[in-house]
Amino acid sequence: MDFLDLAKERFSVRDFSTKEIENEKLNKILLAGKFAPTACNKQPQRIYVLKSEVAISKIRAITKMVFNAPIVLLVCINLEEVWKNPLEEGYDTREMDASIVGTHMMLEAWNVGISSVWIRYFDARKISEEFNLPTNIKPIFLLPIGYKSNQSNPSSSHNDKKSLNEIVEYL
Ligand SMILES: Cc1cc2nc3c(=O)[nH]c(=O)nc-3n(C[C@H](O)[C@H](O)[C@H](O)COP(=O)(O)O)c2cc1C
Repeated sequence: MDFLDLAKERFSVRDFSTKEIENEKLNKILLAGKFAPTACNKQPQRIYVLKSEVAISKIRAITKMVFNAPIVLLVCINLEEVWKNPLEEGYDTREMDASIVGTHMMLEAWNVGISSVWIRYFDARKISEEFNLPTNIKPIFLLPIGYKSNQSNPSSSHNDKKSLNEIVEYL
């Protein structure tokens, strides 16, 4: 599929079918995250594949926003590998790096017929605690993934995009 068509077609899915994701497809999604650019090529991303019954129950207890997805990718950053901008005290690229990794995975997922929704409605401290994450590993967002259910449709916000004139300015 043409890339722009894919970008336009993809929508956030919040209702998944029970069909399992094939390992081959899951690997492709994870590989897309591996090839994402990161600041100074530090590759600080750490991705936990929440798939076991125990892991899925834990994450569902923390946030309702993983819906009934069979797999949830917990995308974290290793703070010891994050690039810190020496020109701006206190600024680092953790969210940017993780977001690029997430975008690669989200779009590759759609490319292989797997849906997802980006989630940041949770308390990261609870996730760290429940999954016993080391203190240098910070959760950034969740990506529930799976086959969408037959009744899953784009939400009204999917088509409510600003015009190019509103978001782009030529100087
Ligand atoms: C950083 C970020 C955080 C988001 N957090 C949530 C969330 O917690 N819950 C949710 O249902 N959707 C969440 N979304 C999905 C957006 O609501 C969705 O992408 C937007 O409404 C556009 O719809 P579309 O993805 O179908 O085009 C998030 C998206 C982004 C990029």
